[in-house]
Amino acid sequence: MTNQDDVESVISQSETVTLFQSFLNELHLKYKPLSNGALANYIPELAKVDPELFSICLITVDGQIYSVGDYHQLFTMQSISKVFVYGMALEEHGRDYVLSKVGVEPTGEGFNSIILDERSKRPYNPMVNAGAIATTSLIQGSGPTERLNRMLGMFRRYIGHDIFIDISVFMSERTTGHRNRAMAHLMRNFGMIDEKIDEALDLYFQQCSVLVNCHDLALMAATLANKGINPLTGECAVNTCYIKDILSVMYTCGMYNFAGEWAYKVGLPAKSGVSGGIIVIVPNQMGIGVFSPPLDERGNSVRGVKVCEELSQKFGLHLFDCSMNGSNFLETQ
Ligand code: DON
Repeated sequence: MTNQDDVESVISQSETVTLFQSFLNELHLKYKPLSNGALANYIPELAKVDPELFSICLITVDGQIYSVGDYHQLFTMQSISKVFVYGMALEEHGRDYVLSKVGVEPTGEGFNSIILDERSKRPYNPMVNAGAIATTSLIQGSGPTERLNRMLGMFRRYIGHDIFIDISVFMSERTTGHRNRAMAHLMRNFGMIDEKIDEALDLYFQQCSVLVNCHDLALMAATLANKGINPLTGECAVNTCYIKDILSVMYTCGMYNFAGEWAYKVGLPAKSGVSGGIIVIVPNQMGIGVFSPPLDERGNSVRGVKVCEELSQKFGLHLFDCSMNGSNFLETQ
């Protein structure tokens, strides 16, 4: 390659970076006025947030960062945490044991439905509440403090900085989480979780109350996209051999009873949470985080879904897009 080639490649790279950032800015401008959706109010603390908050962040596996909007704003991770705790349970117990306690089948039902697989008595998958509580109950430690610290340590590897819990949200979940409590007791009845029911529920409410911003979400997603290695710190957050398990359940179950339509339109593993976050993984390419609190009737961020649909379409990110642009995203930069 000549010096001239080098100069041209640097110029074209910086043009693409500008184009790409401009597209994110346009998306943000386009969907900012969208006023559909409602704040989650079944956890009283979540109903207090500003519905106007809106941010998008993308981090590539080689560490490029693109952000727009309120990307420093903190919010609680909610159900997005389920993905990472599932990874931790897989690492601690292996695939077969975890599968004996939590299935991998989509429910086609809401995230808080009280159903177990009729034959196996397992919760259907780790992305719905019942499956997530069962997954959390698998986290090892000599007592609640050690289990919590080990979980926070796991999140720290993905996010690269200290992790804090929003105590008001935690208390709000804990005092109003009767449905989750009912599920836990049902699973105890069938031997799917052990007798430490209240400890498992507390740990589940704590993981949902972990504070993150949109940049953190994108980095966690980028770590999964990068074979489990945090692209900004180089730290291994989860063993590469479990990435396919995690991404498979995200793909089939991560968006609840919208998972089929999401797979059809966006075509990427993703997970949403009731505080308005969505993470999306473009394997071997990048992680996407979107945050906007108003939700549709299935519990997914309204602006978040729109942004992801457009991003996937614009850059050909759908995993089954025959033009395969998605798998070459970085090379086209
Ligand atoms: O279990 C709950 O109700 C919440 N802490 C988490 C739910 C959640 O984020 C569901 N996702 N859309």
